[in-house]
Amino acid sequence: PPWRATVLTLFPEMFPGPLGISLSGQALEAGVWSLTTVPIREFGLGRHRAVDDTPAGGGAGMVMRADVLAAAIDHARGAEPDAPLIYLSPRGEPLTQALARELIAGPGVLLLAGRFEGVDERVLAARQIREVSIGDYVLSGGELAAMVLIDACVRLLPGVIGAEGSLSEESFEGGLLEYPQYTKPREWEGRTIPDVLLSGDHKKIAEWRHAEAERVTAERRPDLAARLPRRRPT
Ligand code: ADE
Repeated sequence: PPWRATVLTLFPEMFPGPLGISLSGQALEAGVWSLTTVPIREFGLGRHRAVDDTPAGGGAGMVMRADVLAAAIDHARGAEPDAPLIYLSPRGEPLTQALARELIAGPGVLLLAGRFEGVDERVLAARQIREVSIGDYVLSGGELAAMVLIDACVRLLPGVIGAEGSLSEESFEGGLLEYPQYTKPREWEGRTIPDVLLSGDHKKIAEWRHAEAERVTAERRPDLAARLPRRRPT
């Protein structure tokens, strides 16, 4: 059965967008996963289908209404009762490779993409919504963040990535950043490919790659390096 992504959004025309091409697009066409959008505007109030209002206590911008969002959520829940409900927000828990793995183990995801200054806090509590952030910066809406989360999940679904082993070697899957890659030509602008990679000695190559992955991780991401299991003393 396909893994199901449902996105509640004011801008359904943004989807599938980049998810409709290349790896994720082919998997979508092949029925490995499905994408449904729920247009929040359809649950808006009055002649103008209002979805937002001014912030209680004053201040800049607008806030998405709890009653409108709850109606859209309850509608989506009818078709998707068991998927986790996630609000994309910079205040959320960080999106990690481990979280993507956790999410593909279930039936799919129900994603709420916000706009304006955010959503009424009461709907988050009343509908037990999990909050997820894709990084420490602010986007103009949750849609791009929802696409990032979906892409990180879809590429992990069985059958989406062809080459055996290409997932197990990549960044984060072993807690390390990736080792450097090279391809032909052997010499380019006076720069050569490390000799060991051309040696044909697969054990040596694996050792070199692991050492390089550790070096790059320690240099660029000391935070990740600190969380690696201690190397056994030799
Ligand atoms: N919406 C706006 N900024 C975001 C972020 N950094 N992560 C998730 N959702 C967002």
